[in-house]
Amino acid sequence: MWSEELTVDLVLKNARVFTPNGIFNAGLAVEGDRIVRVAKETNLPPASETVNLNGDLLLPGLVDIHVHLRGQGLSYKEDFYTGTAAAAAGGVTTVVDMPNNIPVTMSVETVKERIKSAGDKIVVNVAFYSAFPEKHEEAKRIVVEGGAIAFKFFMSRKVGGIDPKDNSAILEALREAAGLDVPVAIHAEDIRLIEERKKKVELLEKEGIEAYLEVHSPSVEKAAIERAAGLAEETGAKIHICHLSSSKGLGAVLAAKKKGLQVSCEVTPHHLLLTVEDLKSKGATALVNPPLRPKRDVDSLWKALRDGSIDVLASDHAPHRLEEKFPPIWEAKTGISGLETMLPLLFTQVDRGLLTLETLIRMASERPAEILGLEGRGRIVEGGYADLVVVDPSERFRIDPSTFHSKAKHSPFEGWTVKGRPVKTFVNGRLVMDEGEIVAKPGDGRVIRRLREA
Ligand code: DOR
Ligand code: ZN
Repeated sequence: MWSEELTVDLVLKNARVFTPNGIFNAGLAVEGDRIVRVAKETNLPPASETVNLNGDLLLPGLVDIHVHLRGQGLSYKEDFYTGTAAAAAGGVTTVVDMPNNIPVTMSVETVKERIKSAGDKIVVNVAFYSAFPEKHEEAKRIVVEGGAIAFKFFMSRKVGGIDPKDNSAILEALREAAGLDVPVAIHAEDIRLIEERKKKVELLEKEGIEAYLEVHSPSVEKAAIERAAGLAEETGAKIHICHLSSSKGLGAVLAAKKKGLQVSCEVTPHHLLLTVEDLKSKGATALVNPPLRPKRDVDSLWKALRDGSIDVLASDHAPHRLEEKFPPIWEAKTGISGLETMLPLLFTQVDRGLLTLETLIRMASERPAEILGLEGRGRIVEGGYADLVVVDPSERFRIDPSTFHSKAKHSPFEGWTVKGRPVKTFVNGRLVMDEGEIVAKPGDGRVIRRLREA
């Protein structure tokens, strides 16, 4: 007999549960914010609430380590509620927020301010990157007092306290990060090459997309990755290459990995599913940095993804108003609203046999949690957090950006038919999205700070 004390808060039954040991027809029990049992229905405890999942897939919620939630001075593009609502709608239970904000996240004070501003608005888990401070000694306080879980370094422009041309300052910062055992995510496009190439195209009076592509070329990505790898080698820093886009860039990552450096990398759904031809035909909605590439680059990313050379799938959710994305191209804002399309787009590739579900979950939930040290997240295991997404694998639908929860209601994937809809999202044991509706209250999400003492 079960005693009252053994009644749990929630049982999810009749699901196909994705666990590290395989997919099982089973259910799970949740107490508080944790998964306490994964078992067949007869072995699940009684619960205050039981939800029948009708045979749908129960997956670990996605852990998206590349998200620009905006808010604060950029709230007109996105705010902490709309951004995390977009995550919940897309089956993303944890997002890691980028620092290129107003104000830039780059000090204890700015991290704290951002966390404070987010606290009463978020509906999923949110952790924070910081840019490097001007004085490298402050990095420790940003992590230990502020709670940032990692640093982000833009090699393409100055964001934060360090000039991407200043090698010795970068070395100091990376040494600091290595000492704190905190990873550094890197936007790998080399500022010097960008400036050189920009001068050249201006001189030749080249304009528009062709000029833009020449400036933001694969060689610029490759050079930045090689430079970052060299600096990582010198300092022992763990680096994570963001939004890898080209075959040349991939070659540089593979060379760094082969050397035994602590380097991981990510690809986005848009760099896997679109090509430069989409940029040419769609324009603004497909304008992103690094830019979309020719099919041969896309093919090499797919090959690397399948052979395990790429670590992470991330959205690089970068919302802007559509009006901001129009020419002149040098002033146009780059970025795609990706949180609500990532899982359906990737699940569709699983349905087509181009990707296994195991690879999808490893790259979009497990590995990202591992890389950023988000303990207890990214896997369905007893004792882990109940961060879950229920996917109806048979439901087909058309991507309609006008229904996005994000303020950026535009997408280069508009009109695409996808298969596999996220129908429920649970965060820390609580239902936050049900049939596309956000049922959580603003502030129900949790800020994740760095746990370990540095
Ligand atoms: O396309 C991009 N958008 N690339 C970046 O590096 C920044 C991002 C943004 O914040 O809009
Ligand atoms: Zn980004």
